[in-house]
Amino acid sequence: MQPNIRPEIETNYNTMSKKGAQIFAQKIKDHPKGTFGFATGSTPIGLYKELVDMHKKENLDFSGITTFNLDEYYPIKRESEHSYYYFMQKHLFGHVNVDQSQVFLPDGAAQNPEEEAQAYETKIHQSGNFIIQILGIGLNGHIGFNEPGESFVAETRYVPLTEITLNANAKHFPNPADMPHHAITMGIRSIMMAQHILLLVSGEAKAAILRDSLFGPITPLVPASVLQLHPSVIVVSDKEAASLLV
Ligand code: F6R
Repeated sequence: MQPNIRPEIETNYNTMSKKGAQIFAQKIKDHPKGTFGFATGSTPIGLYKELVDMHKKENLDFSGITTFNLDEYYPIKRESEHSYYYFMQKHLFGHVNVDQSQVFLPDGAAQNPEEEAQAYETKIHQSGNFIIQILGIGLNGHIGFNEPGESFVAETRYVPLTEITLNANAKHFPNPADMPHHAITMGIRSIMMAQHILLLVSGEAKAAILRDSLFGPITPLVPASVLQLHPSVIVVSDKEAASLLV
């Protein structure tokens, strides 16, 4: 493993979530007024539950931090139970003492998604570097909604979702007509500016793409492979996801 990539292989999803939460919580303690990057998806739900517990039992303090999420579907209203805004309130922000005026996600209801993407990018730059960015990984290697083939220097933008991503996320949309086919996503350039990346990976289905991302050629065809070029990546996984790492 390259020295810039620190693997933390845990026995199961629960211990993976605990480990990820400990690493993230320590960064909040070290930088109580810092800017932090969040992800949605199934993988970080356990980590967010641990952070809520740490807030309730150990007074982990979110009051000074600024938060940016990677992405949001488009079009979607904030109050929709499928929005990533709703997801973050449900799993984390609604249960901790974060300053809600410092919680940022792209606005999935903006009239012009391209302008919204640019405005989001500007806000990110105004907030300074992220201390740590949580990432999950798609089955096709996407990070955020940067799908295979996207430029490594792309900034926040409005993107169509690929078939593989639509299929993977369809389980959250019992009525397929509700599923947006586009998103606004932070670009790889913005993700790579974070001081640390916390990549969370769980389950056997992700084992091959994790191996390809960490050991394969660095190529936009596998967006997560760009992480090999980041100075500090912590990969917290369960043993199934790590099963093909050497
Ligand atoms: C979520 C995101 C996506 C997910 C990825 C994995 O904000 O940007 O890249 O991290 O699709 O999703 P799960 O965890 O549901 O397998």
